[in-house]
Amino acid sequence: MAIDDPQDDGDPRDDGDPRDDGDPRDDDAFERLNEMADPAMVVVTARSGERRDGCLVGFHSQCSIEPVRYAVWMSKANLTTEIVLDCTHLGVHFLTDADHELADLFGSETGDQVDKFSFISSTDGPHGVPTIDDLPNRFVARRTAVLEDESDHLCVIIEPLDIRAADSPGSPLRLSAVADLQPGHVATDRRD
Ligand SMILES: Cc1cc2nc3c(=O)[nH]c(=O)nc-3n(C[C@H](O)[C@H](O)[C@H](O)COP(=O)(O)O)c2cc1C
Repeated sequence: MAIDDPQDDGDPRDDGDPRDDGDPRDDDAFERLNEMADPAMVVVTARSGERRDGCLVGFHSQCSIEPVRYAVWMSKANLTTEIVLDCTHLGVHFLTDADHELADLFGSETGDQVDKFSFISSTDGPHGVPTIDDLPNRFVARRTAVLEDESDHLCVIIEPLDIRAADSPGSPLRLSAVADLQPGHVATDRRD
């Protein structure tokens, strides 16, 4: 599907960057808007053969109603992303405000250095996807597409299949509550 670019006035010298039109992007305003959104945090897990990992993710959302689809944006710097690209199914676990410690493990440590699953209790779910026992609100999903541009995250589109949710799942752990965490990999890192 071709989508018209509203910025494109046909000038062949225009590469589409709005800052070229003397309209500098206001990064502080953009940050304030994102702070308003304050997303709930999830942990995405994946396995490929003997390799398994998981990482904390704030970029995620349902992205289609019929058929149901979900999107997670995975940093090109992460080991988890490497494994996600090498497998067919992945797990998405929703954190509550009691799960800061798990957010710290999955967001501040990298599987390049530690086996995060050695610190927690986990169970192999459908298709061998590692599921985290202390995070019962979760789904296992099938990967349907990966979208990539020059940005530092990949958009991974998935179909939720095996879905578990408590009747009262609790209050979400929001991005604002994990602002103290330092990511195990900064998004500008690139894997060799
Ligand atoms: C608050 C916060 C939000 C994050 N959001 C994302 C995200 O949306 N997508 C992503 O791929 N990584 C995200 N990360 C980074 C990874 O969770 C982190 O780099 C992790 O240590 C990677 O582990 P891995 O190398 O074992 O995959 C986030 C980290 C933090 C602390």
